[in-house]
Amino acid sequence: MGKIVAVHSFRGGTGKSNIVANIATCIACKGKRVGIVDTDIQSPGIHVLFGFEPESMGKTLNDYLWGKCGIEEAAKDVTKNLAGVEEAGGKVYLIPSSMKMGEIARILKEGYEVSLLNDGFTEAIRALNLDFLFIDTHPGIGEETLLSLAIADISLIILRPDNQDYQGTSVTLEVCRRLEVPNLFLVMNKVLQTYDFEKVKHDIENVYKCDVAGVLPQSDDLIEIGSKEIFYLNHREHPFSQGIEEIAERILNV
Ligand SMILES: Nc1ncnc2c1ncn2[C@@H]1O[C@H](COP(=O)(O)OP(=O)(O)OP(=O)(O)O)[C@@H](O)[C@H]1O
Ligand SMILES: [Mg+2]
Repeated sequence: MGKIVAVHSFRGGTGKSNIVANIATCIACKGKRVGIVDTDIQSPGIHVLFGFEPESMGKTLNDYLWGKCGIEEAAKDVTKNLAGVEEAGGKVYLIPSSMKMGEIARILKEGYEVSLLNDGFTEAIRALNLDFLFIDTHPGIGEETLLSLAIADISLIILRPDNQDYQGTSVTLEVCRRLEVPNLFLVMNKVLQTYDFEKVKHDIENVYKCDVAGVLPQSDDLIEIGSKEIFYLNHREHPFSQGIEEIAERILNV
């Protein structure tokens, strides 16, 4: 059975979507079958990294939640857009959230049956024969977040070196411990390249008593790309990609 990897952060903009897209691609480059679900229904975004325009999205997670289609029908095979994945025998499927204003508004107004997400994840893993299903989330501790933390096999909590993130991460970790979340890792993103990364890792592990799977540098190269592609694919030797590789190895070794 494939594993569910939930990726969270207490505050927004920590780099979840970029990190999910890059780790998922990195793992697929090693020959694994990987899925990604965008559960950030109120502000979706990860489809952008895979080159999707809102109008060409077709069926989405919203359609699944409204009972209009099976979850596998909302999955887009994006492998062809990712050089090297096919050759390695890997696959990447993306299950995007709708970018239609009316559909976002409807979900916010009417809500949806959260347990359908749980069923959908299991069904996606089965129908698409996935080794890993990544869940990209809306920041904070919402209902979807609680659900995905509760059912994930592996959870990554992303934080930046910022005091607002430090406090928020304590709250998230407390929730994780109450839920007895297994294989829980922190990932520190946007760390100034002049810092001593080993020391950052050591300090964070000491403060939070939680494993740090990786420390990723703040990078102007990533800002320049502006989420329009998967950075890892074209910059494999870059310190950001090396950090992604390290996190991918941790996930593969669970
Ligand atoms: N290591 C990094 N160095 C520089 N910029 C980065 C880095 N990681 C992410 N970014 C930038 O930070 C911004 C936010 O990234 P991203 O959308 O992946 O975060 P997010 O946590 O998914 O945000 P949200 O909470 O809104 O979903 C993007 O502009 C992205 O390019
Ligand atoms: Mg995001």
